[in-house]
Amino acid sequence: MTLHEEIRKLQKERNAVILAHNYQLGEVQDIADFTGDSLELARKATDIQADVIVFCGVHFMAETAAILNPGKTVLLPAADAGCPMADMLTGDQLRELKAKHPGAKVLCYVNSTADVKAESDCCVTSANAVAVAQSFAPDQEIIFVPDRHLGSFTAEKLGRTFILWPGYCPTHARLTETHILAARAAHPGAPVLVHPECPKPVRDAADAVLSTGGMCRYVQGRSEPAFIIGTEVGILHRLRRENPDKAFYPLLEQAVCPNMKKITVEKVLWSLRDLQTVITVPEPVASRARRSIEAMLAIH
Ligand code: 13P
Ligand code: SF4
Repeated sequence: MTLHEEIRKLQKERNAVILAHNYQLGEVQDIADFTGDSLELARKATDIQADVIVFCGVHFMAETAAILNPGKTVLLPAADAGCPMADMLTGDQLRELKAKHPGAKVLCYVNSTADVKAESDCCVTSANAVAVAQSFAPDQEIIFVPDRHLGSFTAEKLGRTFILWPGYCPTHARLTETHILAARAAHPGAPVLVHPECPKPVRDAADAVLSTGGMCRYVQGRSEPAFIIGTEVGILHRLRRENPDKAFYPLLEQAVCPNMKKITVEKVLWSLRDLQTVITVPEPVASRARRSIEAMLAIH
């Protein structure tokens, strides 16, 4: 039996669904039942009939799926696949920040721990941060955590100022304006798409700032034959598969998230076979974090 056949057999026995983020290895995306961005995956997780969810992504994503599905078994095939940005803010640090700004509402990027979500008023993803922030009154003081880049992008879009936490994504922090100049020279006419986790000079030098799901939709409606992609390189697999007639160039070949790459097809098989590693969130944190995620899903 091939690895794929074994996975399908175990999937049936366990009544399991396999979800994968757009940054996963191509081989993992290819065995997944659904591949998407953080918002698409959070929505998908609310609409699953299976008993087991194998989450191919990083810890906070599996945690979000577990919070939204208290009755299901959520598995993360690589227990050590964390997100350094999510780990840049603890619940205690957020409680201290809130105490300094008692009238502020807290928006937290889903790239955060369950403790941080539990302390927040509403979650956002890179796909809906502007729409969610817009639903708050223009004079409402906003604390935005933990990504200072998505926070400043969102505030700029609305012409507002947020209280920001200095968190960032180490993978997107590697992208620079100089890479954009070099890529434009190498591929004249190709639009440059970057993720809002990129620093401001990179966002300003790009043609569009989009979530990973937004990038997938953007290229489908365009006539250009080539695109420069400024985000984690795993997304190139999906873009190339869905658009075989178009060319995609990474803004930086080394824009790799080591944590996203910890999951392999073998680990998916072992995860299904051994039902490991189960991700759970204790109460009352889970209920409080669920409120923040559901507040987001209700807005956008
Ligand atoms: P999206 O896929 O939601 O755009 O998020 C990117 C990311 O860094 C997830 O960790
Ligand atoms: Fe976290 Fe950045 Fe990796 Fe996304 S790409 S999981 S934000 S470290």
